Amino acid sequence: MLIRYRYLERLDVKKYYKGKNFNLFLKSGYFINDKIKEDFERKAGKYLNNREFMGVSSGTNAIYLIFKMLNFKKDDEVIVPCLSWFSSFTAIKMAGCKVIGSDIDENLHLDLNEIKNKITKKTRAVLFVHFGGLCGNLKKIKKYLQKRKIILVEDCAQSFGTKIDNINSGCFGDFSAFSMNPMKVFGSLGEAGGISFKQKKIKDNFKLLRYAGIHNKEFCKIAELNHKIDNIHCNALEKNLHNLKQIINRRIKIANLYDKYLTNKIEKPVFYKNFSHNYYNYTIRTKQRSKLIKYLNQNNIETKINHKHLICDFPPFKKENKLKNFSNGKKIVNEILSLPIDENLKKKEIFYVIKKINYFFEKKL
Ligand SMILES: Cc1ncc(COP(=O)(O)O)c(C=O)c1O
Repeated sequence: MLIRYRYLERLDVKKYYKGKNFNLFLKSGYFINDKIKEDFERKAGKYLNNREFMGVSSGTNAIYLIFKMLNFKKDDEVIVPCLSWFSSFTAIKMAGCKVIGSDIDENLHLDLNEIKNKITKKTRAVLFVHFGGLCGNLKKIKKYLQKRKIILVEDCAQSFGTKIDNINSGCFGDFSAFSMNPMKVFGSLGEAGGISFKQKKIKDNFKLLRYAGIHNKEFCKIAELNHKIDNIHCNALEKNLHNLKQIINRRIKIANLYDKYLTNKIEKPVFYKNFSHNYYNYTIRTKQRSKLIKYLNQNNIETKINHKHLICDFPPFKKENKLKNFSNGKKIVNEILSLPIDENLKKKEIFYVIKKINYFFEKKL
């Protein structure tokens, strides 16, 4: 028995392949028309508290398009947490501005005090990453940024379907970016992403950016690439939106078992009241990480480190971040470990993981 950190075969996607809807879609032959896209976008927008929603080709491109839209200058600065997937940094850099890393708190989120330390006259935006699928505490941050006319962008690549006080992540920022590739809790059949925002009037500008700078198929206003989402993803995602609650509930049940039965010799994920988690990752912390990974591997349990390094340490970002201090981030990247979590995991598999971890700490292996 091999217990995977994440199963890439998805039950919801399999169900979709076998379903009537997929056959109807294939028979229709409409692989790139606008109607299928718009149907999905309307439903996703409704789900996100009636915000505007546009499908794009990936989460990376979603972030890129938001910052292209904002049209910042070369020296303008965007504050980003030092711990995230690379795209949170690269997409902003590609859109043409400076990316300034900031330290994270114990929940692996941007911290308001750290944001305050990093703000300069050139700060134009903050990218808040709901890391691991846990909704971050955005209310205070939003208020602080609003007062200073600094744009808040949410990176919801990992957090689709999570809420703060019953409001979905992706509904707090001026703009929000989503990834819906098959690894994500709300996943499609391949690479896919989305953007959400409040003002309807900028939708046409996003449409220009999404497809080669072309307006109404007749006029080219700016030079851009093609960032459109395929209809096959829109069709699958529209159906999968109905399964999302069920998938998240299943993941929460697994996480609850970890919370209850795992030894207290590790640090388990914490979170605040009224905040929800989709458990994209179940991240523990331990100083004995290397030994534990080795032991779990020997027992056929796959784990993953999300992530081993702070992004600021990599060549494209080193220069602008070299003097910055990320003391919490530096400590955290040496201790975090993601345990297997997936809606397909069976109860006996979860208890096997729990038993092995507890044994490792009891016996001081
Ligand atoms: C926090 C974060 N931002 C952005 C992305 C990029 O999304 P994509 O892989 O769809 O381009 C990811 C992908 O995992 C992510 O985790």
